[in-house]
Amino acid sequence: MTLQNHSFLDACAGQRPARTPVWLMRQAGRYLPEYREIRARVSFLDLCRTPELAAEVTVQPIDRLGVDAAILFSDILVVFDAMGVEVEFRPEPHIAKPVRTAAELASLRWGDPVEEVGYVMDAVRACKRALADRVPLIGFCGAPFTTASYLIEGGTSREFHEVKRLMYSEPLLFGALMENMSELLARYLIGQIDAGVDAVQIFDSWAGALSPRDYAALVLPHTIRLVERVQAHSRRVPVILFARGNANLLGLSASAPADVIGVDWSLELDAAIDVVGPERVVQGNLDPALLFGPPALIRERVQQVLAAGRRARAHVFNLGHGISRFTDPALAKLMVDTVHEGLPDAGA
Ligand code: CP3
Repeated sequence: MTLQNHSFLDACAGQRPARTPVWLMRQAGRYLPEYREIRARVSFLDLCRTPELAAEVTVQPIDRLGVDAAILFSDILVVFDAMGVEVEFRPEPHIAKPVRTAAELASLRWGDPVEEVGYVMDAVRACKRALADRVPLIGFCGAPFTTASYLIEGGTSREFHEVKRLMYSEPLLFGALMENMSELLARYLIGQIDAGVDAVQIFDSWAGALSPRDYAALVLPHTIRLVERVQAHSRRVPVILFARGNANLLGLSASAPADVIGVDWSLELDAAIDVVGPERVVQGNLDPALLFGPPALIRERVQQVLAAGRRARAHVFNLGHGISRFTDPALAKLMVDTVHEGLPDAGA
């Protein structure tokens, strides 16, 4: 079957569709009343583990906002099911038994994510059915460092002391963990591809916790290996790499062979394009907090990002991080409509 709207995949392939495609990180979530209505009845993890419900939630922003891609409703941390690690969402993630010592690391299981997180593969199939080829479906995982940092810190961290302690004091253990993580995540993404996703995004949400030296030497090689493993499996499915939090790392993360480079909101998109090079496809990067601003300002800033995006080989419009739960959906829709209108003087 062919997709009715393939503008997102065209842009990922380096073409410039008539309208700049747009989707939003965290587009299915608590800012939508129809999501909160389902969450009033079902816990977050049960929602992730029930393919028909995950599919229903995945489609909600397509109906409401008219975005050009859907992202699978799940979480980067459910992959812990393949490792025998329990995580709770309150809604901040909590890992009751963080993994820090050599013995704890040795006790991790490295199961087959396709089997042990089979509900994600089922959710992919349910999403594809529910979307009925209206827009492509994006699968995802956390990058090895971001996933490992949750495992070691036990939750969201401000300082990343535990993961850095391991990285500096037990470099061999840290390296082995990153290697295993990268391999597990590759199998997880390949499983999602075999189940039907049309693109994948790797979220390195905590890359910005690292100095460029450590990111380059100890982390990036494992992310690159993950990108390469996925691309070796399928060249049909574009890989988006989003490393957040430190504009200084952008040049390094762009050395990964990802098809699309995600840009966070901490630098201007035209400056980002100077760094990654005009031959790359970029995704981003409106500050999600702008959606708290007045409509005229939102429209002005969207147009600035669109204008900057013209200098790249192709541009997928997105926020520079996940949409806030306090966003008015009507203003998210205004943003999407403004992207689709394009710039006043010419095409997208
Ligand atoms: O983008 C989407 O719409 C798809 C779904 C998605 C979720 N999490 C749903 C979710 C995606 C792609 C993620 C990725 C994710 N999860 C990341 C990477 C992106 C980023 O934000 O940097 C990270 C770091 C996590 C870990 C995580 N999960 C946190 C920190 C939290 C709590 C804070 C928060 O934003 O709510 C979660 C829970 C979570 N994941 C919720 C949702 C909708 C809220 C749970 C609820 O409904 O109660």
